[in-house]
Amino acid sequence: MGQDIYLTGITTTGTPHIGNYVGAIRPGIEASKDLSTQHFYFLADYHSLAKNEDSDKIGRSTLEIAASWLALGLDTEHAYFYRQSDIPEIPELTWILHGVTAKGLMNRAHSYKASVQANADSGNKDPDKGITMALYSYPILMAADILMFKSTKVPVGQDQKQHVEMARDIAQRFNHHYGEVFVLPEAVIGEDTAVLKGLDGRKMSKSYNNTIPLFTDEKRLRKLIMKIKTNSLEPGEPKDPRDSTLFDIYKAFATSSETAEIEGRYADGIAWGEMKQILFEYINDQIRPARDEYQRLIADPGAVEAELRKGAEKAREISVPYLAEIREAIGIRKLGDQ
Ligand code: TRP
Repeated sequence: MGQDIYLTGITTTGTPHIGNYVGAIRPGIEASKDLSTQHFYFLADYHSLAKNEDSDKIGRSTLEIAASWLALGLDTEHAYFYRQSDIPEIPELTWILHGVTAKGLMNRAHSYKASVQANADSGNKDPDKGITMALYSYPILMAADILMFKSTKVPVGQDQKQHVEMARDIAQRFNHHYGEVFVLPEAVIGEDTAVLKGLDGRKMSKSYNNTIPLFTDEKRLRKLIMKIKTNSLEPGEPKDPRDSTLFDIYKAFATSSETAEIEGRYADGIAWGEMKQILFEYINDQIRPARDEYQRLIADPGAVEAELRKGAEKAREISVPYLAEIREAIGIRKLGDQ
């Protein structure tokens, strides 16, 4: 077998928060240091159309996500780092894949089914009310992202696993019709990647409005950490780290010996105020150098744009000739050619 090719996309909706950092950015950058595997990370900006986001927000989010990965030290010489919309072969492949995708397969997508269910729950007569074709065929665009670069491993959250399986189904169906053109991908669900809790103790997520933005300034970072929900135990009363968002976040940043030490402090009844201060200082120190670089990049979008262009150029060295092969396989050929 050849070397593994890892690929993952980040939808350009929103500002990266510490949950994204711990769950995706940090492990992604770490993994890309393994020079025996190939890594593709890209900004899935066409995917954001499925949610009908406001157009200024998509641009801003693209800048913020790209600047975050770069500021945290992604090695763009080794890893491929690009923006989906800079690779015209991806939407082209998306349409080609429509030709081998069963409509019934799309009917089964969790994201589509959830929207239909939401319509039913709110008493709408039309089960498809407000559902665009971009939402409906979202998994086909995602399959094109994955198949375009012959990825073998796709690191995603549990909620995206079905989409990767669909990409595999679509590839198999294509290969059955047209010959072995696609490589079959498989999802990699990070078992040890932490799912962080947010300010209110629920999963940290933009949709719950409970996030801590990764590169927020020092003052605001402190303010947000002071807001994290705790129980009402007094200083001196022993506390359970397993039931503490503060501990959960600390653990995601600190080493295991530091974490063990804090566990001891919980048993001794550390005051919540002190724990918040410790957490703030810890995160702040860890993030500070990258935050300075992030601010510099945000103020210089041209530099970020140049990185993305360079990444797209590199990626298209693969996608352009591969798409020509795919077109050949399906019979979209120049007249007169054999
Ligand atoms: N749909 C993914 C998400 O919302 C993002 C994504 C787009 C992706 N294309 C991809 C992830 C290809 C992995 C591979 O998280």
